[in-house]
Amino acid sequence: MNRKVSLTGIKPSGTPHIGNYFGAIKPAIELAKQYEARYFIADYHALNTIKDPILLKDLTRKLAATWLACGLDPETMLFYRQSDVPETFELTTILMAFTSKGLMNRAHAYKACVQENTEEGNDPDAGVNMGLFTYPVLMAADILLFDTNVVPVGKDQKQHVEIAADIAQSLNHTYGKELLVVPEPVISEATQVIVGLDGRKMSKSYDNVIPLFLPSKKFRKIIMKIVTNSQDVDEPKDPDTSNVFSLYKLFATETEQASARERYLAGSMGWGHAKQELFEIMEAHFAPMREKYDALMQDPGHIDKILKEGAEKARVIASATVMRLRDTIGIN
Ligand code: TRP
Repeated sequence: MNRKVSLTGIKPSGTPHIGNYFGAIKPAIELAKQYEARYFIADYHALNTIKDPILLKDLTRKLAATWLACGLDPETMLFYRQSDVPETFELTTILMAFTSKGLMNRAHAYKACVQENTEEGNDPDAGVNMGLFTYPVLMAADILLFDTNVVPVGKDQKQHVEIAADIAQSLNHTYGKELLVVPEPVISEATQVIVGLDGRKMSKSYDNVIPLFLPSKKFRKIIMKIVTNSQDVDEPKDPDTSNVFSLYKLFATETEQASARERYLAGSMGWGHAKQELFEIMEAHFAPMREKYDALMQDPGHIDKILKEGAEKARVIASATVMRLRDTIGIN
């Protein structure tokens, strides 16, 4: 049976947090039930912002341990590091010839930088490196190299997947055949509702994240920092405007949610209590994964071995794609 391919990557540019878990990792692992899963660590994408070699290595290892602790099974899913698949960079070069500069000008990460520079009266391209400008081409190579049908990503990456689809169509059109599979983004519903400590979207750039695998005590401390209104313990509270309840819903069953909702509305739940319940339900969810994560982090050689084996398998697929293209474009 030929299953369709689900592929996604995460950049090792920060400590993995609850937003990454619900927005990327968990939906990707769910999709592996129906799809052939190909998941990777986008370390060359992280190089655009991380120039400290020790930090980059450390974040890469932590991200690998996170994927594995959250349930990625390297026996049944392909798991590798982008940098271990050099075909990615050959494909990037090929794709460059089919990518209009205008398309890159419109990519939102670059556009946002230019806009910020302009507003501040700076040169429009101040602080923009070519890695940022061509970011979507490298990402398209990641995707198109592996015959990807669906790409589970957060809303913010939708445009990048659409760009990959555009580039694939451009090649297919030029040579008049289905050389590359045209991918589609799959946007997880949940990404739209993961709120951070301050009620805004959980994001490293807002500094409002709840990291995934903190030791229990620190984990509790962070959860206790969630911003609430100043209502007294006995006042009835509106669960639907509460950051605490919004996070609680991600972990609680329907029955648990209904019960908490009643207690919020009845005014029998103080914020301290609500946060404690949130901590307990999150701790129950993540403690077994944290144990696995800690064990993996104690044995970096094991992580490296898993990634290396993954890369070997990945390169078989990747080199077939590059050969197919080389044959077609006249570079063989
Ligand atoms: N750009 C993605 C992010 O920042 C990471 C990424 C790199 C990716 N290559 C990819 C995601 C390919 C999906 C497919 O989250």
